[in-house]
Amino acid sequence: MSVNYSERIPNNVGLSENRRLQRALEAWQPNYMRWWQELGPEGALDYDVYLRTAISVETDGWANFGYVKMPDYRWGIFLAKPEDGRTIAFGDHRGEPAWQEVPGEYRSPLRRLIVTQGDTEPASVEQQRHLGRTCPSLYDLRNLFQINVEEGRHLWAMVYLLHAYFGRDGREEADAMLERHSGDPDKPRILGAFNEPTPHWLAYFLFTYFTDRDGKYQLASLVESGFDPLARTCQFMLTEEAHHMFVGETGVMRIIQRTCEVMRELRTDDPERLRAAGVIDLPTLQRFLNFHYSVSLDLFGQELSTNGATYFTMGLKGRYHETRIADDHRLTSATWPVSILQGSTIVREEQPALLAINERLRDDYIVDCQRGLNRWNKAIETHGSDMVLTLPHRAFHRRIGVFADVHVSPDGRAVTTDEWAQQVPHWLPTQEDHTFVASLMQPVTAPGKMASWIAPPAHGIHGKPVEYEYVKLH
Ligand SMILES: [Fe+2]
Ligand SMILES: [Fe+2]
Repeated sequence: MSVNYSERIPNNVGLSENRRLQRALEAWQPNYMRWWQELGPEGALDYDVYLRTAISVETDGWANFGYVKMPDYRWGIFLAKPEDGRTIAFGDHRGEPAWQEVPGEYRSPLRRLIVTQGDTEPASVEQQRHLGRTCPSLYDLRNLFQINVEEGRHLWAMVYLLHAYFGRDGREEADAMLERHSGDPDKPRILGAFNEPTPHWLAYFLFTYFTDRDGKYQLASLVESGFDPLARTCQFMLTEEAHHMFVGETGVMRIIQRTCEVMRELRTDDPERLRAAGVIDLPTLQRFLNFHYSVSLDLFGQELSTNGATYFTMGLKGRYHETRIADDHRLTSATWPVSILQGSTIVREEQPALLAINERLRDDYIVDCQRGLNRWNKAIETHGSDMVLTLPHRAFHRRIGVFADVHVSPDGRAVTTDEWAQQVPHWLPTQEDHTFVASLMQPVTAPGKMASWIAPPAHGIHGKPVEYEYVKLH
């Protein structure tokens, strides 16, 4: 399964043996490059960046590190190794051999799943394109660019599937991936969170912690797909996604660490004094956390979803770690507790598990999100502070699902419109919060130096020291 880098499009799918597909992808490639130049990282085309490039999909040594100018990055098509005799693990086709071709009757829902996933990949690159201008260090700048090129590769992964398996509609969908743009009023990206701006590095770290983690859960449920090429593509994407979440978790941790150091030095937790000292106070961090978590929860969709049920029954999209779940994997009579609104109280009610597939994935995601908060809180405690970061209630600040039309406080109380209006400056970032955080975003580009508001990382990259010149700006 090693990757052939002598071809124009590096791949491990034997692209040169399929001339028609190769030509179609080679025709899409210049459009992609144009998109990267116009909407990829701003002003960074000439930088030499210490990037990792996939050279094989084997677990050992799949990455190669070296300086690359981003437009020269070898975006390619990598599928995880096929699993001999793989069968479909759930739904109506449970036990049948996994499909190597698209089943005709499932063509359109399968395409929709691939397009929805694919659309998020270039969206995040667009959302993050201005951040390079205000990087807190060269280490962080390099990680930003690493994530950006990998999201670009994830787009390639989905575009490959569209071109290889969906004929003309697939080619049209691949073109449309480069026509929709994040935040574009006329041609927005498909999902809400991917049209939100990522205006500064605090938003970015929370985005990579919360929104890339949604990506992990979506990919993990597509890894279960009965359509084998999709499963194998997503398997390899997951290995890259782990790094994106690492960047988010450690980024927030380093912000907390720096804030706590200053809290101890000044013996205060007064936000005004901390802000004056050039760090992000924890209540401000909490408000941004509330925002990014709640918009990421929306990405899982409706609590009760016939689409989710259909995808599952058809064998197209499973549950998280489907094969480790001990049940019939068909969900014909099982139930699942779902949060709903009863009058003005939120209660959990047993609902058909098949309709609650989205909600179950959201439940798994919430548990996973909490793990990072536990680690952050431990660090705060170690610094002698009794402040605690919390995940807001799942009904807080939702735009999709049963809670979209009600106001719910972070602790899960339905509140009146008046109370919401009064309290929302304590619950979500205000314009003033944004202005303050933006004021901290002064670029730091001397090797090893960090911005005032963030502690250095514990380790450099790939055994290099933190002071390494991870990006050569010229
Ligand atoms: Fe991605
Ligand atoms: Fe990602």
